[in-house]
Amino acid sequence: MSVWRKKTVESILAEKKENKRGLVPSLGVADLTALGVGAVIGTGIFVLTGVAAANYAGPGIIFSFILSGIAAALAALVYAELAAAIPSAGSAYTFSYVSLGEIVAWLVGWNLILEYLVAAGAVSIGWSSYMGDLLRSLGIALPAAYTSSPFEGGMINLPAALIVLLITGLIITGTQHSATANKIIVVVKLATIGLFIALGVQHINPDNWRPVLPYGITGVFHGAAIVFFAYIGFDAVATASEEVKNPQRDLPRGIIWTLALSTTLYVAVAATLTGMVKYTALNTASPVATALFMVGIPWASALVSVGALAGLTSVLLVAMYGQSRIFFAMGRDDLLPPIFDWLHPRLRTPLWDSVIIGILVASIGAFLPIGLVAELANIGTLSAFIAVSMGVIILRRTNPDLRRPFRLPFMPVIPVLTIVAAGYLALNLPPLTWVRFAIWIAIGLAIYFFYGYRKSKLAGEPGPAIPGGALPQPARKPVFEDIEKHNPRE
Ligand code: ALA
Repeated sequence: MSVWRKKTVESILAEKKENKRGLVPSLGVADLTALGVGAVIGTGIFVLTGVAAANYAGPGIIFSFILSGIAAALAALVYAELAAAIPSAGSAYTFSYVSLGEIVAWLVGWNLILEYLVAAGAVSIGWSSYMGDLLRSLGIALPAAYTSSPFEGGMINLPAALIVLLITGLIITGTQHSATANKIIVVVKLATIGLFIALGVQHINPDNWRPVLPYGITGVFHGAAIVFFAYIGFDAVATASEEVKNPQRDLPRGIIWTLALSTTLYVAVAATLTGMVKYTALNTASPVATALFMVGIPWASALVSVGALAGLTSVLLVAMYGQSRIFFAMGRDDLLPPIFDWLHPRLRTPLWDSVIIGILVASIGAFLPIGLVAELANIGTLSAFIAVSMGVIILRRTNPDLRRPFRLPFMPVIPVLTIVAAGYLALNLPPLTWVRFAIWIAIGLAIYFFYGYRKSKLAGEPGPAIPGGALPQPARKPVFEDIEKHNPRE
């Protein structure tokens, strides 16, 4: 059946070669790690830790971070093999298109909307709560009606919507999120976390860590399913492949360093936080600032809020930008209407993608509560991990000769473990999240059959889909070149 039609690896590599013209590969491991940390460390640690500790895991949240870190690390290895072999900006979407077929690619792309666009919504809500904290510490109280969603008794979360619209403006005008700006933000973010830990450890009262597992081991798993959000985004490193000096060696390293650094910091912050105050006091959207305030260091609380705001802004920017690239890739394959791969003639940016994304993310930030949004993002990302893991196994069979500069050892152990770990985390998400996810998938399938299936660039191609994808490819516009040139990624 042609819903299983595939793109060929060769066509993607050829596309890359063509697009590479004019780009100067300049990124090394340190740049990639900075890019990864810029994309990853954000709402998960600064916001969700508190809610997850208070309601799910207690001090056991430390173990939750380790567990979800293991799942993310396994997936990172899988991504590394594919990212090095098929360097492509479409990430999991493209990997699925060559290995599993169009319908799976569509669903993965559809779920990446949860990973990027919906996650950006959660980050904007986190941003808003740190902004509220900061203003409060300056004596300015914003009315609750305008800082929380209708689900939480408010009317609209205005700061969340405003920051999203501001970032949309930046993305549209092609303002370059330069490597230097990213590095500065990363340094501020790491310094903020360092300051928190340095001050926080002096106020640890071991009694706060008791009982370690107030909600039992199941609580730790529920907590892991929530704080998994903190690891979302490391695949941003994989999408930078075209600008990496030595992608084969540096991509896997960049991904793995990003995760190692993030996991270490997350565990340290979680331990400090739950040692400083009782976990029951952490049911707030700005736990890091709150804890410092509660132990009597208000100046540090304000400073940490500023650092958190900088960090959250970079995550938001990367997530929204990443989404525009994925929409663009899907539009270029004609699985989405032409508006999605339309480039503004002068700005050379995918204007409508950015506008659509801006409106959607702002609406999510304005009207939905963070828990609901983060859980949806998690389930979408976990499903993409599962698809990519299946893809890496299949591609070993269908394209055994593909040059794989980074090869997973002990095949298929790591992808199988990834599927089990991601599946288990997903099962630990609340049943309602599964219902919402099922509705999301149903909508996605309906759109595919009404639109993408018929319009796809691969529709009407002669011959059946050959395993490994040997379909002739239509000529493609070398548009990424323009996008990349005008919008260097980091
Ligand atoms: N991992 C990102 C964050 O925690 C999405 O904000």
